[in-house]
Amino acid sequence: MTIAGAVTAQSPLKSLAPPGLRLGVALSVAQVDGRDARSLAIATEHFDSITPEDLLKWEAVHPATDRFDFAAADRFVELGERHGMFVVGHVLVWHQQTPGWVFAADGDGRADRETLLSRMRAHILSVVGRYRGRIHGWDVVNEALDEDGALRRTPWSEGIGDDYIFKAFEFAHEADPDAELYYNDYNLWKPAKREGAIRIVNELRSRGLRVDAVGEQAHWGIAEPSLEQIDETLGDIPARTGVKGMFTELDIDVLPRDPAMWGADLSAKATIRAATNIYPDRLPDEQQQQLARRYASIFELVLQHRSRFSRVTFWGVTDAQSWLHEFPIPGRVNYPLLWDREGRPKPAFAAVAWVLRNPR
Ligand code: XIL
Repeated sequence: MTIAGAVTAQSPLKSLAPPGLRLGVALSVAQVDGRDARSLAIATEHFDSITPEDLLKWEAVHPATDRFDFAAADRFVELGERHGMFVVGHVLVWHQQTPGWVFAADGDGRADRETLLSRMRAHILSVVGRYRGRIHGWDVVNEALDEDGALRRTPWSEGIGDDYIFKAFEFAHEADPDAELYYNDYNLWKPAKREGAIRIVNELRSRGLRVDAVGEQAHWGIAEPSLEQIDETLGDIPARTGVKGMFTELDIDVLPRDPAMWGADLSAKATIRAATNIYPDRLPDEQQQQLARRYASIFELVLQHRSRFSRVTFWGVTDAQSWLHEFPIPGRVNYPLLWDREGRPKPAFAAVAWVLRNPR
C-alpha cells in the first residue's frame, strides 16, 4: 500500500470509525485551559473520547491529606460534556505520580495496611464520587505487573498486600456503580506479562467485582512489538477473560531504544542521547512513510478484532505534546503521533483514515 504524502480532504477520524469503536486522545492542562487552542481544535474535531494526560493523577488532584485541587479536572470534564465525548479517568491507583504522604505513617515510618486502605478509599470516593455519572470509565489500577507477570512490588502491594488491586476496584464501584472500570498496563504483548493481567481480571471477576476492559497502553516502537504479537494480544485478552481490549495510550517511538537507557545514570544518558537523537530537525520521508505504514497495520488489526475491542486512545494530539521527547532519555526530538508540531496532519493521519474508510 502506498500512502500519499499530501493530505487533502479530511474527514474527522471519529466519523470513519465503525460503531462501537471509540477514538480517543490524551489532553494536557494547556489544552483544557484553552492556551493550546490549535491542538484542542484537532482533538474536538477528530476524537470522541478524552483521557487526562496528567491532571487527574493523585499528585495533581490530591497533593496533601486534606487538600484537593479539582480546578483543571473540572474543566476537563466540562470540555468532554460540551462535546458529547466519552470521558475517561486516569488514574486511581498507581505507584508513580503519587505523593509521598500517601505511603508515610503519621508518625515515623511507613503507613500500615489499615491506614493505606482508608486513604485509598477516601481518595477514590472523593475523586470518582465528584464526577459520578460524568466520567464514564476509569483506569482503576495502573502497571501492577512486572515483566514476568508477577505482581510488581510497590508501596501499595507492600503496604496493603496483593489484595490492594481488588480493594481499588471495590471502592471505585462503590463510588460510581455505573462507571466502567479498567485494568491498565504496558507490554501486555509479552505472553508472561499478559498472563498476569489475565489472572488479575479473572480473579476480579471470580470475586464478583466489576471490570469492563483491559487497557494495553501501546507505547510501541516502529517495529516492536511485531504485528503477530499485537494480533495475539488482541485475541487473547478477550478470549481468556471475557472483557474487551483497548489501546489506551498509543504512540510510536521512532527513535532507537537501547535497553541500557532505562537503568542508565545521567552521564550515560547524555551519551545515549547524543547517539540516538537521530532526527533533531525533521523526520525524513522514508521514516515518515514507515510510521504511516506502522499505524495502518495497527489499525487493520484493530478493525479485525473490533467486536471485542472498544477504544484506541492516542497519548497526545500533536507531536508537540509527547512525553517521548523526555522518555526514556530526556531532551530528544520524537515524532510519535498523527499530527506534526505545527498541527499539520502527517502521512500517518492519512494512513489511519484510509484504513478506517476501507475496512477489509
Ligand atoms: C506520562 C505523561 O505523559 C507525562 O506528561 C508525565 O510526565 C509522566 O506520565 N504510562 C501511563 C501514563 O499510564 O500516565 C504516563 O504518562 C505514560 C506511561
